[in-house]
Amino acid sequence: MQYYFAPMEGITGYIYRNVHHRFFPGIDKYFSPFLSPGTKKTMTPKELRDILPENNQSYTLIPQILTNRSEDFLRLCRDLKEYGYKEVNLNLGCPSGTVVSKKKGAGFLEYPNELDRFLGEIFGETDLEISIKTRVGKDEPEEFEELLEIYNKYPLKELIIHPRIQTDYYKNSPNLEVFAMALEKAKASVCYNGDLFTAELYEDFCKRFPQMEKVMMGRGLLRNPALVQEIKGEGKLDKEKFLAFHDALCQEYEKVMSGDKNVLFKMKELWFYMGSLFGEDKKAMKKIKKAQRLPEYRAAVQELFRLWPENS
Ligand SMILES: Cc1cc2nc3c(=O)[nH]c(=O)nc-3n(C[C@H](O)[C@H](O)[C@H](O)COP(=O)(O)O)c2cc1C
Repeated sequence: MQYYFAPMEGITGYIYRNVHHRFFPGIDKYFSPFLSPGTKKTMTPKELRDILPENNQSYTLIPQILTNRSEDFLRLCRDLKEYGYKEVNLNLGCPSGTVVSKKKGAGFLEYPNELDRFLGEIFGETDLEISIKTRVGKDEPEEFEELLEIYNKYPLKELIIHPRIQTDYYKNSPNLEVFAMALEKAKASVCYNGDLFTAELYEDFCKRFPQMEKVMMGRGLLRNPALVQEIKGEGKLDKEKFLAFHDALCQEYEKVMSGDKNVLFKMKELWFYMGSLFGEDKKAMKKIKKAQRLPEYRAAVQELFRLWPENS
């Protein structure tokens, strides 16, 4: 099995990826949060920093692109090639309203003819390998048959399927029936993505789809950064290591961000996912959320770690 770390805008930037890899190696591919090329500049300074090879030295990074304009996609590919990348990923899954209203991400799925033309142009013009990360439709899962026929026309490096529709956002359950159909019909090598939050859920998934060779995980890895190691039988998340990971991450953010507020914003976003590892006591979590300065935050984190369930 190969394990991919899902792209998560605002969270899994290069700082998070480096610290995650340092403490919890074993991810086969990290995907960058989407790069959204403009008509003039292909990348903002922040996007460039995120994919610069010197910021991504010790693991495999696949840059992800969000656009519906083939010329912008291709210009960005040329720049990425200059930086040494051989593979890129196309985002056809982002459900956010502002993206969808511009016919991008999952919004592009509603326009199969335009999508087909776009794919024809990008696959015809670039020598980079292209994988696709897709939802199974805009409004109905039934849309996926036609989309698959389109994907099957092109030499995709791989097809990563998050079997929800755009209007699900992250609600409802992944549609495993549609996924099973896709697994049968897709010509490209398929990777599953969606709701594999724990080793138990992963095992259940593998029982149902024993032929799977790759899975992508997002929120499960944010919650438990050792999830893949746990799945591989290399040991459960250990309190000391988790705390050291947390402290290293916080320190790295402090190095590049100005002011406690910005660092705390980043760390608090993560606690939205990591918090559930610490049981039901909400008091310490509240202190973390309320902290305005780093010393106060650190004290709240120490307090929370004292609640670490010893039998875990
Ligand atoms: C905060 C957040 C940011 C995300 N950003 C991206 C993104 O930049 N590109 C993308 O393809 N998917 C993005 N996703 C979707 C995830 O990559 C993934 O497909 C989704 O969370 C389902 O996988 P999971 O259930 O393992 O988390 C984002 C999801 C969340 C919750």
